[in-house]
Amino acid sequence: MRKGVFITFEGIDGCGKSTQLELAAKKLGEQSFPLLVTREPGGTAIAEKIREILISPQNSEMVNECELLMYLAARAQHVREKIIPAIEQGFVVLCDRFQEATFAYQGFGRNIPLDFLEKINSFATGGLSPDLTFVFDISVDLSNERMQKMNKAKDRLELNGRTFYQKIAEGYRFLAKKEPQRILLLDGSEPLERISEQVYCKIKDILKNHLSPA
Ligand code: TMP
Repeated sequence: MRKGVFITFEGIDGCGKSTQLELAAKKLGEQSFPLLVTREPGGTAIAEKIREILISPQNSEMVNECELLMYLAARAQHVREKIIPAIEQGFVVLCDRFQEATFAYQGFGRNIPLDFLEKINSFATGGLSPDLTFVFDISVDLSNERMQKMNKAKDRLELNGRTFYQKIAEGYRFLAKKEPQRILLLDGSEPLERISEQVYCKIKDILKNHLSPA
């Protein structure tokens, strides 16, 4: 059995995953669990540099194959430099996006076959998979509404149209159905606190048999 626990937060932009991750981190921190909060693409110096290339709207000429390999390059570095060492030391690792983003965005969004993605992702991760994944499900309309309210400049992927995001949202639902024991689909349109309680309840469940606070 792993010493630590690896938990990931997923969904389309504006789904609330980063907010939910922060709320979970706060609650776990209050209970003195050893915690690593990280994100993809990113989490290490090299992977953060790759992130800049990936999300910059200036790189609009990027082809899908290049995009996929860069997400995986960032992941390969992140997993070995940061995530595995933390798990080995008994940390609870909370990661904003991981492999399900590749399956949803590059698989369903960019039409790259899933079986191929599973193989190449497994090469990048060395076979490491999350113990628990939350997917916050919202409609593309709600996503657009929330993104407009945030009033942030759009990154390279956000410049894609509605159909792209519809395929990704569908993709996440498909992934959750395929692996219901590991991937929990939550309604991201519900009130923040209500979702946060569901998240923490599930995290406590998985930690019960695994870890105790420091
Ligand atoms: P973020 O906005 O959640 O930080 O993620 C950056 C963008 O990268 C977001 O549009 C989703 C996208 N992405 C992929 O397309 N594939 C991946 O494997 C990951 C991790 C993110």
